[in-house]
Amino acid sequence: MGSCGIAAGAAGVQEEFGRQLADRGQEAVLDYTSCLGMCHQEVLVDITFPGGPRVYYGNVRPQMVARLVEEHVVRGEPVMEWAIAQESEGSKPVPGLPELEDLPFYRKQRRRVLRRCGKINPDRLEDYLATGGYAALERILAGFTPEQVIEEVKRSGLRGRGGAGFPTGQKWEFTRLAPGDKKYVVCNADEGDPGAFMDRSVLEGDPHAVIEGMIIAAYAIGADEGYIYVRAEYPLAVKRLYRALAEAERFGFLGEGILGRPFSFRLHIKQGAGAFVCGEETALLKSIEGERGMPRIRPPFPAQKGLWGRPTNINNVETYANIPLIFESGSETYASVGTDRSKGTKVFAVTGKVNRTGLAEVPMGISLREIVFDIAGGIQNGKAFKAVQIGGPSGGCLPDSQLDLAVDYDSLTQAGAMMGSGGLVVMDEDTCMVDVARFFLNFTQSESCGKCTPCREGTKRMLEILERITRGLGEEEDLERLERLARVVKNTALCGLGQTAPNPVLSTLRYFRHEYEAHIREKKCPARACRALITFRIDPERCDGCGRCRRNCPAQAITGEPKQVHAIDPQKCTRCGTCLEKCRRQAVIKE
Ligand SMILES: Cc1cc2nc3c(=O)[nH]c(=O)nc-3n(C[C@H](O)[C@H](O)[C@H](O)COP(=O)(O)O)c2cc1C
Ligand code: SF4
Ligand code: SF4
Ligand code: SF4
Ligand code: FES
Repeated sequence: MGSCGIAAGAAGVQEEFGRQLADRGQEAVLDYTSCLGMCHQEVLVDITFPGGPRVYYGNVRPQMVARLVEEHVVRGEPVMEWAIAQESEGSKPVPGLPELEDLPFYRKQRRRVLRRCGKINPDRLEDYLATGGYAALERILAGFTPEQVIEEVKRSGLRGRGGAGFPTGQKWEFTRLAPGDKKYVVCNADEGDPGAFMDRSVLEGDPHAVIEGMIIAAYAIGADEGYIYVRAEYPLAVKRLYRALAEAERFGFLGEGILGRPFSFRLHIKQGAGAFVCGEETALLKSIEGERGMPRIRPPFPAQKGLWGRPTNINNVETYANIPLIFESGSETYASVGTDRSKGTKVFAVTGKVNRTGLAEVPMGISLREIVFDIAGGIQNGKAFKAVQIGGPSGGCLPDSQLDLAVDYDSLTQAGAMMGSGGLVVMDEDTCMVDVARFFLNFTQSESCGKCTPCREGTKRMLEILERITRGLGEEEDLERLERLARVVKNTALCGLGQTAPNPVLSTLRYFRHEYEAHIREKKCPARACRALITFRIDPERCDGCGRCRRNCPAQAITGEPKQVHAIDPQKCTRCGTCLEKCRRQAVIKE
């Protein structure tokens, strides 16, 4: 069970299975896995007979369990009405049920990093071993020098998945070559971007993959100690990590003399309080040291001077989880997926106004259109697509004209967005892009650590301008002011937070300038989302005086006798939209 499943009620479903099986005296193993990435289908349950196909059920509720047990577990007849897919590899398939990988949500994915998530019990090291886990580490310790490991990582073309996309092998080499006999390996599991949950899912679903990647990194750079920096708001990930570390130690993959070789590595967990800036690598290191998480100027880079002044290699969760893959099949096979300069896959947390939200692992180079429409199933309620926000607060918003853009580090940066860590929010026609820019700037502004003036003051002034525009008080000169300020902040802020904070503003100005102009010149919000710029009125032709709007209006802004046409007092109306929602005759008009 992952956080998503638990939030959807997985614990109750499991309990009910326990009860139903016990009531019938039915012999069965009741187990749990983590998440399959199908947030839109949680709670997911799968039932397998030895040697038979694994049959998946979606949106399972406790009241469905009795029938599932009776028909499928006891009688061996899958409940076709509720089954969504199967995995039949090597067994006789259930007729009429699609294979899991053929579901529209999965067809275009390449699940490599996530291949165990939702399939194994993350709390059991044996499950990891049974699926090829720690084989890469064993091969390396048996036959690779640290230099060869680094060479192989370089050849794979792997770039950091935490945002900036720096080549991983090169970073390892810097740390290996940095003078000093004490070195550290650090995993960045801070995951501060709003809307992102890729790293959480990997940690909850396959913690040993990350640990194995870190052990390999430690061997390659010559470190004997490491830290996983994970936010305390991820209690399940933290719990599974503690357990995984203890298990890995017990089996001899961590600690003194790993697998009987003269190589030792100790791994600790440091829980962060969850400030966005603590994801920035120099701030993160300060936080591990027990000080306030504030960035510092680089160079020196952590590879030269990191934790307690020692050379430190810091990578993202997903980056480490990619490492075992490279050694399982070789760098060439690894690099056969992806584009020229962006190799492998990327995990995206797809949220917003799409039909199928969830976690999707796609090959680099796939188009945004394929992610939004083929995998995520297009826009909800038949509305029109407006934009995709990619890369979190450091990223940008791309319009439909950019939907065929290949998703790789360089194309996204060129288009004014950023790969970022993998947050992907889809917006429909009802979203105001000025308001979106305001939302993200409000986030970065309040998360700014305040150390440098351009970020502390600059983002505040930019936010003020955006607020003014969304309230209908914008002036013609505001756009130029915004652009000028954005460039100054971008070029002069000390750390990545300030340097990328203007991106949502710049990208919306680039692609949705007309929306800014409508707010300023016509005092209109084209998406009818900015409260100050919309009005509500009642169409007398349609209103039958049912009074639902009047009874539900929290501001008592609606008057009218029963069975008579009602009216809204614009002075009293707070534009909450309740009347629009409540009216069954579509008589309330928002304009
Ligand atoms: C404000 C800010 C927040 C960041 N948050 C994260 C984060 O949550 N996780 C992460 O891996 N990297 C984050 N980064 C990037 C890290 O500083 C660093 O580049 C990354 O951890 C390096 O790992 P990689 O090479 O594997 O991507 C953030 C950077 C900035 C400027
Ligand atoms: S850019 Fe912002 S977050 Fe980064 S150091 Fe400066 S004030 Fe702090
Ligand atoms: S809910 Fe609609 S139909 Fe009923 S009084 Fe209000 S506007 Fe008229
Ligand atoms: S928008 Fe809200 S406050 Fe305004 S009339 Fe409708 S229900 Fe009342
Ligand atoms: S199903 Fe796991 S993150 Fe949603």
